[in-house]
Amino acid sequence: MAENKHLALQDILNSLFKRKNLDAAIANATKGGLQKTLGAWDLILLGVGAIIGSGIFAIVGVAAAGDLGAGPALVVSMIIAAIACVFSALCYTEFATMIPVAGGAYMYTFATLGEFMAWIVGWVLMLEYAIGFIAVACAWTNHFMQFIRGFSDYLPAFVTNPPQWLISDFRNSVNYYSSQGIDYHTVIPHLANIPICINLPAIFMIALTTLILVKGTKDSAKMAGLMVFIKLAVIGLFVFLGAFFVRPENWTPFAPNGMQGIFMGAFIIFFAYIGFDALATAAEECKNPQKDLPIGIIGSLLITTIVYTSVALVLTGMQRTSGTVPVDFLQAPMAYCMAATGKSWATYTSYLISIGSLAGLTSVLLVLQMASTRVLYAMSRDNFLPKVFQKLHPKFNTPYILTITVGVLGALGTMFLDLNVAASLCNFGTFTSFIIVCVAVLILRKLEPNRERPFKVPFCPLFPILGILCCGGLMFFSMIVAKGEDAVLSTLLFVFWVLVGIIIYLCYGYRKNRLEESKSQISMENN
Ligand code: ALA
Repeated sequence: MAENKHLALQDILNSLFKRKNLDAAIANATKGGLQKTLGAWDLILLGVGAIIGSGIFAIVGVAAAGDLGAGPALVVSMIIAAIACVFSALCYTEFATMIPVAGGAYMYTFATLGEFMAWIVGWVLMLEYAIGFIAVACAWTNHFMQFIRGFSDYLPAFVTNPPQWLISDFRNSVNYYSSQGIDYHTVIPHLANIPICINLPAIFMIALTTLILVKGTKDSAKMAGLMVFIKLAVIGLFVFLGAFFVRPENWTPFAPNGMQGIFMGAFIIFFAYIGFDALATAAEECKNPQKDLPIGIIGSLLITTIVYTSVALVLTGMQRTSGTVPVDFLQAPMAYCMAATGKSWATYTSYLISIGSLAGLTSVLLVLQMASTRVLYAMSRDNFLPKVFQKLHPKFNTPYILTITVGVLGALGTMFLDLNVAASLCNFGTFTSFIIVCVAVLILRKLEPNRERPFKVPFCPLFPILGILCCGGLMFFSMIVAKGEDAVLSTLLFVFWVLVGIIIYLCYGYRKNRLEESKSQISMENN
């Protein structure tokens, strides 16, 4: 009896740590033979396109002036966040060049830490990509409203100043109405006694990106490329013009909340760097991955850091960030600062900035929605999700059911989450997946030291360990010092998300995989 129990436990443990066969996965993925067309510059462009978005167009305001804002020391926070990314980026590159298959961190984990951890990584990657997608959609609404309000002399009031429940999530709508002394039950419409808030601009945008992605990734890649140029041009314009309005006295105190503010700023602004890992998934299409991928990843991180720190210096020089700041600065800081100069031409520049921001946010939305569907597709192939998600569109050959599902869930998410909570949740998910990738590099070096590695993380094990310490440190720090409703809510939601993931795995993924295993065993025996 005791022996049976022991054997059963052994079986369960074997299943939980069952690793994917790397050679089979690579052989499977390379059947299609993608063309090797990408050089270092293409990768840098791709990276910049995926990285620059709501982080610098919106979240930078909260990182500088929020509850525990970094103030002008935000430049230091940005450099800390960039350093944390570089170590993880190198680990991503080692894996991406060694296992060039779809699924990114999820796949790398399956090959090293086994089935259970792979599911957990896939599940937290949904925080990075799908919840990040919601965050960017919320930022889209804020910028759109800021832009539309500029036309209040020409457009009807219900367009420029719609009810709050039509442009934000439930929690923020309730807070808004309470601050006005209005009982929200009397203004928010109810469906079967449930108050319904609809973030209409965000939902509209999600519907559009879903359509574009269902139609095909070629169009979306072209569109994303165009938007990279628009957003860089707009940021360049802001830095150049804004520099004339900088008042150096705004840079003191440099760090109003000391080291706490700087580290909290690094945690928040980390969101602005998310997206470079999407480059790693392009490893299969690189002409010379060994040389070009590190240049592409490090190059795009370097360019974005230069862009970000320039924006931060100008922004914090134009607007005092200690003390109370206007809500518009927190939502769309660049457009706000330009408009606040009061110059007539600055108003037009502020419109241009809003248009550029909307273009930039749209490109990030496309990348994040596409990344979500790629990971879910890989998970569905591994029996973690129903097979129906692998269905391709008969004409466009895209995983349309998955794309539409992510779109619908994203739209629902915008009804309950706002930009700041979604961005923090996304950070938690990303930090977790980065840490696991760093750990996985160390493990695979031990398990398969002789496997061919077209790119090797330099100074291993030091760099992966530094990656783990930087990401873990920032995540842990933010959990400890979390102040304010948003920060506490996102920490709790993160813990809840991981617990729900474990339950789903035990109730569905684990059983489904064992069922598939016994099916294939029976068919092998019959043959
Ligand atoms: N880095 C991306 C952004 O800032 C997620 O929007």
